[in-house]
Amino acid sequence: MARKFFIGGNWKSNGTVAKNAELVKILNTATISPDVDVVIAPTFVHIPAVLASVQKDIKVSAQNCWVKAGGAYTGEIAAEQLVDLGLEWVILGHSERRHIIKESDAETAEKTKYALSQGLSVILCIGELLEERESGETGAVNARQLQAVVDAGVTDWSKIVVAYEPVWAIGTGKVATPEQAQETHKEIRAWIAANVSPEAGEATRIIYGGSVNGKNAANLGSEPDIDGFLVGGASLKPEFLDIIAAAPKA
Ligand code: PGA
Repeated sequence: MARKFFIGGNWKSNGTVAKNAELVKILNTATISPDVDVVIAPTFVHIPAVLASVQKDIKVSAQNCWVKAGGAYTGEIAAEQLVDLGLEWVILGHSERRHIIKESDAETAEKTKYALSQGLSVILCIGELLEERESGETGAVNARQLQAVVDAGVTDWSKIVVAYEPVWAIGTGKVATPEQAQETHKEIRAWIAANVSPEAGEATRIIYGGSVNGKNAANLGSEPDIDGFLVGGASLKPEFLDIIAAAPKA
């Protein structure tokens, strides 16, 4: 079964009204093949303007959401509010949230469960720190972060895209080699097959993130278990169009 290639642009806490308008203008020149999902994630405050101006073949995602239904939680934004705005996607468990904001595996898993219950699709980020890779713990860290989602009671993984983002490769220019990424993606797929279901193992898209750019995208994307990318820095530049163009043809 073919998995649809997925290209996400994580704008992080970047952008202004004017800069985003410029970027959207560039993105609107791209022809998006029906064989590829292209999803961009501006900051919460910029979502409505981007949603209203970007071409309809590019979907818009949030970068986070609250762990449960909205209410008296000052400063938080709930999944159902994202749905109300017209969004289909949310990024959860990004390493900057896990490691800078100290969100736990359990909290990320609860967010995933609630977001899915509201009809959102989730880009679930996992990945190891440099010291964890060096001490041979990559597989165990990924398994622990995925197991939390299973433990939260999520059985239907059809609306989850797993983003494997080794923390040492994010924003550092140190991209995992296609072989390194492929090896880990294969391991993640086997874990999902064994711990969720063989069908989920086969169908779940596992995308790579960490210093993806216009030059390395084609090589990474040609690996059998790399089903796309989550792009940070390069998604803020016209180069994002080269990454979209490098998607393998179905
Ligand atoms: P990067 O970020 O492409 O700038 O390394 C990727 C990410 O954090 O999703």
